[in-house]
Amino acid sequence: MSASPISIRVNDAQHTISCDPKTPLLYILRNDLALNGPKFGCGLGECGACAVLIDGRAVRSCVVPVTAVKNRSVTTLEGLGNSTSPHPVQQAFIDENAAQCGYCLNGMIMTVVSLALHQPDAGEAEIKNALAHNLCRCGTHKEILAAAKRALFLTNSAALPGSLDSARESGFEPSNVKTDRGERNA
Ligand code: FES
Ligand code: FES
Repeated sequence: MSASPISIRVNDAQHTISCDPKTPLLYILRNDLALNGPKFGCGLGECGACAVLIDGRAVRSCVVPVTAVKNRSVTTLEGLGNSTSPHPVQQAFIDENAAQCGYCLNGMIMTVVSLALHQPDAGEAEIKNALAHNLCRCGTHKEILAAAKRALFLTNSAALPGSLDSARESGFEPSNVKTDRGERNA
């Protein structure tokens, strides 16, 4: 199919791209807009590495044609924060050392941001369920779960937008978060 101009909104900026309308959003983000937060993992919607927010919901950008995001708002990892001013969820992952190679983290973080936006009172079972289909080949699951719990705690507390200090001041412990049985341990 021939290329045609498509206008998309990414990280609060409007872009006009000339491409095949079936081009996966991930390719446009990485190759045309140089936004390399979203990663290419499987290209099949299976691993979660390519997740972005579309209108505030985590979506796998490798299986979304770019035309599907016309008139919608796309947020990538770069739209959350940066190394000097990280988003509270990014800060939670830093605080919990929740990375080895880091390849999966884009998808983990975007999924937790989506959860924090739509289900801020999620407990351990809901967090595990939300992350169940985000794959980590390094086995960092324990730290990622702790980071997600910290992020949800910050979202639920006056500590948001938070830092490690504000989380500590708020008495954060991973066990503060609801367990699978639904109670809080704090
Ligand atoms: S690269 Fe998109 S889900 Fe794996
Ligand atoms: S930290 Fe390497 S894939 Fe998750």
